[in-house]
Amino acid sequence: MANVVVVGAQWGDEGKGKIVDWLSERADVIARFQGGHNAGHTLVIGNTVFKLSLLPSGIVREGKLAVIGNGVVLDPWALFSEIDKISAQGVSISTENLMIAENVPLILPLHQDLDQLREAAAGKAKIGTTGRGIGPAYEDKVGRRAIRLADLGDEETLDARLDRLLAHHDALRQGLGAEPIDRAELKAKLQEIAPRLLAYAQPVWKVMAEARKSGKRILFEGAQGSLLDIDFGTYPYVTSSTTMSGMAATGTGMGPGAVDFVLGIVKAYTTRVGEGPFPTELHDEDGQRLGERGHEFGTVTGRQRRCGWFDAVLVRQTCAISGVSGIALTKLDVLDGFKKLKICVGYEIDGQHYDYLPTAAALQSRVTPVYEEMDGWQGSTSGARSWADLPAEAIKYVRRVEELIQCPVALLSTSPERDDTILVTDPFSD
Ligand code: GDP
Ligand code: IMO
Ligand code: MG
Repeated sequence: MANVVVVGAQWGDEGKGKIVDWLSERADVIARFQGGHNAGHTLVIGNTVFKLSLLPSGIVREGKLAVIGNGVVLDPWALFSEIDKISAQGVSISTENLMIAENVPLILPLHQDLDQLREAAAGKAKIGTTGRGIGPAYEDKVGRRAIRLADLGDEETLDARLDRLLAHHDALRQGLGAEPIDRAELKAKLQEIAPRLLAYAQPVWKVMAEARKSGKRILFEGAQGSLLDIDFGTYPYVTSSTTMSGMAATGTGMGPGAVDFVLGIVKAYTTRVGEGPFPTELHDEDGQRLGERGHEFGTVTGRQRRCGWFDAVLVRQTCAISGVSGIALTKLDVLDGFKKLKICVGYEIDGQHYDYLPTAAALQSRVTPVYEEMDGWQGSTSGARSWADLPAEAIKYVRRVEELIQCPVALLSTSPERDDTILVTDPFSD
């Protein structure tokens, strides 16, 4: 039995939601292992559009188990509003098909406050976060002062956790000119949601071990993208979690052997939301055309995404770090009608050639991309469901991408719609 992990290979929004939804037909368990409601995953099924942030994309299919692992940071209020929204779209969500790791750390309103206060105070040096409190919640997790799901079950524990947490946050807030936390109000809010949230709590590591033992197929759903990874991304313009494939195991309580196939999701061009370096960014008509044709606006914040040509250097790098077995190349249709297409095949920094993105921020800021130009195609790839439907130049583009990133294409996506997908290699039966 093969278990598959899906990770974004660029700066997020590669189309992970669509691919996870498509693959989840073949899976029994779909698990999120990092990030939080900073993610925005879009599923288009006929006339219905689902926008998911915290719920694993497999939740929309009947008979599947959706799991939120310990590697996630969970905002209970965001979760409940998402459950209510998706339920209103006709999906049944209950403790039968959703489980949350009892050791998951919670995102509280004070985390969102801190995220937003810091961004405002940073002015031009801001990260451009989603303002959801993700970074501050992960800080408290590693600072050993988080409130975790299981802590809600016992008042004495909750009191002790609150004391430790507020001693830290009140000092920070004072420095940022904010009022101290109203302890009684926060405690009451937590006690109010505790019963509903605790109903989903499970020792997820145990559920996963049992699933694996009984031959169930597990699909791990990554959020964000490799270039937003806390270690390997364009630091400090990153998110606060490990977005690489290795996190799938620790973020659900499994060993590294649990993952058999790493599917990297790769957009046929490049986008990024928020601040930070972006070597192939376009500020011209081509960039505008990519944004318009690709509807490049953030699912979570509605912000316009920055757009640029495909960067093979970066994708080769992230595929190596995540040990990608094959990629799903998405949004090929957005390139329809371009006369010429460019692919970045290397960098030049101060007259020196680089075949990777160096870590030093000073070097990253001086990168000049080296491009290879290819002919575009005049026919349409939109909605194509087989190789035979693709124009010859489109196939050439895909083949060149594979060659440059040193990784084969397993899936191709040609529209937002679930079934407009071309299967080359089934990740589950590799
Ligand atoms: P995710 O965060 O990686 O799940 O991606 P998002 O959902 O934030 O953004 C991807 C957007 O592209 C969504 O609006 C999808 O519906 C859409 N999309 C996904 N695959 C394709 C594709 O192959 N072609 C086109 N045109 N749109 C796609
Ligand atoms: P999905 O799962 C794109 C970006 C933010 C910001 C940086 C830090 O939909 O691909 P954070 O709020 O995480 O502290 O913000 O990370 N970011 C994303 N960009 N897609 C995402 O998720 C993102 N999640 C966070 O824009 O630059
Ligand atoms: Mg997204």
